[in-house]
Amino acid sequence: MSEVTWDTLHSQIAACRRCGLCGGITNKVPGQGDTSSPLMLLGEGPGRQEDEQGLAFVGPAGQLLTKMLAAIGLPRERVYICNCVKCRPPQNRTPLPEEIAACHVHLAMQLWLLRPRVILLLGATAGRAALGDGFRITRDRGVWVERKGVWILPTYHPSYLLRAPEHKREAWEDLQALREKLLDLGLYPDLLDARPENDPSS
Ligand code: URA
Repeated sequence: MSEVTWDTLHSQIAACRRCGLCGGITNKVPGQGDTSSPLMLLGEGPGRQEDEQGLAFVGPAGQLLTKMLAAIGLPRERVYICNCVKCRPPQNRTPLPEEIAACHVHLAMQLWLLRPRVILLLGATAGRAALGDGFRITRDRGVWVERKGVWILPTYHPSYLLRAPEHKREAWEDLQALREKLLDLGLYPDLLDARPENDPSS
């Protein structure tokens, strides 16, 4: 894989026909952000606005995510954001396990290129994709998992928080834990040393 670059990855995603999802889309949504970021955010799959723009997390859930990151001092341009599947599932249904498996080759390449130190998993689908079928979001969110030197933290998906704002407080605690971990690892010291002032759960 040593010859692979972000450009070749994007070409491969653009040409991909590994599952049926590409039949009904406007744009592929490979993911975007800082390709030298030590932090990857992994969502489920593109929604309508993401499909229209070819960019991950640009709809209402993305706006909440941007606010949550800003509240711990992280501008979202400084992180890398992508999804388990790069094509929008019809009617925003949850991607099927076989679709996630078919798309995994692209995520594996993103992980290989980025080599993140920390991964924030957004929601149950990303949790299951990364941590296995036994993953349960209500039980496992907020619990750090270390895999081969990479720190992984599951939290609620921002779309879920828009539907169930009573859980924003827990997501806020998870974001605080993320901030602490990034600081402990010496990551983003220029941004995170100042204490956060905004509470995104309010
Ligand atoms: N939900 C996701 O999981 N990903 C997006 O890019 C947008 C909404």
